[in-house]
Amino acid sequence: MGTFIVIEGIDGAGKSTQARLLAEWFEERGKEVVLTKEPTDTAFGKLIRRLVLTGGREGIIDGARISHEAEALLFAADRAEHVEKLIKPAIKEGKIVISDRYFYSSLAYQWARGLNLEWLIGLNRFAVRPDIVILLDLPVRESMRRINRRSIKSEFDRIAELQKAVRENYLRLAERFPEMKIVNALASVEDIHEDIVELVKHELSGEK
Ligand code: TYD
Repeated sequence: MGTFIVIEGIDGAGKSTQARLLAEWFEERGKEVVLTKEPTDTAFGKLIRRLVLTGGREGIIDGARISHEAEALLFAADRAEHVEKLIKPAIKEGKIVISDRYFYSSLAYQWARGLNLEWLIGLNRFAVRPDIVILLDLPVRESMRRINRRSIKSEFDRIAELQKAVRENYLRLAERFPEMKIVNALASVEDIHEDIVELVKHELSGEK
C-alpha cells in the first residue's frame, strides 16, 4: 500500500509550493509520486471553476448565483471522481499520493458558507482518509498580502472575512481529525518544508 498525504490551508498559505517540494523530496528517495489537487483538472474541476470560483456572470444559473448546497455537491462530485479514478488506484500501486486540498477544504470553506458541518462530513464519507494532513496555518492579513500579488483571484480569495472564518474552521477541524497536523506557514519556504518532512517521517515511521 502507498501513502496518502494532503496539504490544506487558506488561500495564499503556500500549499502548491510545499506540495511540490515534498513530491521532490520523495522522488529524490526513489519513490514514485502522484502530485494532484482539488478542484481537479478534469471536466468536473473546470465546471467548478466556471460556476463557483470565477464569480460574475458565469457563476449564474437561471438568473441566480448557485446555491451553497449545489456548490458543496459539485466539489464532492469532483472529489468522488478523483478518489475512484486516481487516488485509490495510485495508493493500491504503492505510490505516494500528495494532494493540494481534499475534503477538509469542503468542510472548512462550505461550513464557512453557512452549511451544516455534520451534513458536509456525511456527504464526504466516501473519501478515503489520508495518512497525514498538513495544515499550513497563517494569519489572514498575511494571506491577503500574498494573494493580492496574484493576478487571478477566486471569489474566496477576495473576501478577508470569509478567509478568517475558514482559518478558524480549519483549526477547529484539526481538533476533531487526529490526522491533521498544524504547521506554521509564516516561516520561510525552506523551514516549512523541513517541518513538513519531519512530520511525514515521524508519521511514516509508525511512532504516533
Ligand atoms: P485553489 O486551491 O485556489 O485552486 P486554484 O488556485 O487552482 O484555482 O482552490 C480554489 C478555491 O476553491 C479555494 O478558494 C478554496 C475553494 N474550495 C472549496 O471551497 N471547497 C472545496 O472542496 C475545495 C477543494 C476548494
